[in-house]
Amino acid sequence: MNASGPKCGSLDELKKLAKSDVGAIVTKSISLEPRKGNEIPRAHYDEIGSLNSLGIPNLGIEQVAKDISAIKKETSKPIVANIAGFSVDDFKKLALAANSSEADMIEANLSCPNIIGHPQTAYDTKSTKELAEFFKDNVSLPLSIKLPVYLSQHQKNEVLELIVKNKVKMVTLINTVGDSLMINPKMEMAVMKPKKGVGGLGGRYIKPIALGAVWTFYNYFKENKYDCKIIGVGGIYNGTDAFEFFLAGANAVQIGSAYYRTDETIFTNVKNELDKILEKKGYKSLQKITGKLKTF
Ligand code: DHB
Repeated sequence: MNASGPKCGSLDELKKLAKSDVGAIVTKSISLEPRKGNEIPRAHYDEIGSLNSLGIPNLGIEQVAKDISAIKKETSKPIVANIAGFSVDDFKKLALAANSSEADMIEANLSCPNIIGHPQTAYDTKSTKELAEFFKDNVSLPLSIKLPVYLSQHQKNEVLELIVKNKVKMVTLINTVGDSLMINPKMEMAVMKPKKGVGGLGGRYIKPIALGAVWTFYNYFKENKYDCKIIGVGGIYNGTDAFEFFLAGANAVQIGSAYYRTDETIFTNVKNELDKILEKKGYKSLQKITGKLKTF
């Protein structure tokens, strides 16, 4: 899949994805109302990765639902509606609206780091639990919750427990790492304007962090005999990167920063490179390697 964020907000961008080799199309995070997003400069991309603080610019759920209907006429690829609320109540409304749209799946973005005054929902275990329960009882489409990295073991365990208790069937790991800062030393200045320069870090900068999250979640689910699928994201630029995510326990992967820096051919290239790796190593399917990482 493409990762929610780069080049997936307008109907034209969705159409480009529909024509590509991407396996499923993910929308830019959708809010209840249309939003212009944060002030510019609000994104910085380099050869290693990205820093962004876009502030969820999007057309709002009403328009995006129409765009999803339009795109469904052009492609048989599954469409994933990525929803982003600014409160528990927003998330409930968005989930119901997305559930009755023509989307095939919902990704609930509980982890956007860039909205002033609205910290990541997924760092609030109580709200996350309430939403997981709500989704279980009210959403019929497959739903993944998109989470941030948990640096606190204590909170990670709380979240893992609530995932199992509330029968969350899918998680997307991980969102950009919030409160990151990049500096232009010549100008002695932050590279972005919003939030005094801090925003979400993505791309190769976070690959080991994302892999660690996928691997620890995978092991927890395995030890607890619980079937929760994992979508891995963070620093996938080539077939080897994707291969590593599958070894660590991902069932699917998303490509964000690398797509921003290139074009639709990234999906073809990663897929072909991954196929070649599997063939060379004699693996008949991705399932054969999922979670099969060796450790000492
Ligand atoms: C934005 C950034 C994110 O990392 C995210 O998950 C959702 C939205 C943004 O700033 O638009």
